[in-house]
Amino acid sequence: MTSEALVRRAAAARRRARAAYSRFKVGAALEAAGGKVYTGCNVENATYGLTVCAERVAVWKALSEGGRGFRRIAVVADTTNLTPPCGACRQILWEYCGDVEILLGNLRGERRTYRLAELFPAPFDDRFLAGKPTRAKPARPSTRSKAPHSRRR
Ligand code: THU
Repeated sequence: MTSEALVRRAAAARRRARAAYSRFKVGAALEAAGGKVYTGCNVENATYGLTVCAERVAVWKALSEGGRGFRRIAVVADTTNLTPPCGACRQILWEYCGDVEILLGNLRGERRTYRLAELFPAPFDDRFLAGKPTRAKPARPSTRSKAPHSRRR
């Protein structure tokens, strides 16, 4: 699938956003090994705090359906400055997807690609647990395979 096709899947998912409170609709499309795509939209709640972002909806759907080996995630919102994943989503993406490509888009055809490590350069992860050696700034693309999460991507 081309990057543009993945972004379009995210844009389509965005249309199903349940964003009655913020009116800020977001869609995500997460590509797994083998090319299967899991989509998500943000789902809000009257308590506000129980809102779940589009990216995490996509990750939860993917994991619960057996998706693994995530390669790319596209995120689409209707903003001039392309909307990146929030901090909580960056943490979850790092845990389950590693240093994935993040394709951002808006409804005007603007696109930009990042690696997660660019947006999330000093993560807390399982290397800090169990006394494993750590690096302060992991995840240039060339070091990805050493990240512990890479074994279960
Ligand atoms: N939101 C997402 O779904 N993903 C992002 O990357 C940024 C924020 C949602 C959460 C909430 O429903 C709305 O956008 C406004 O913050």
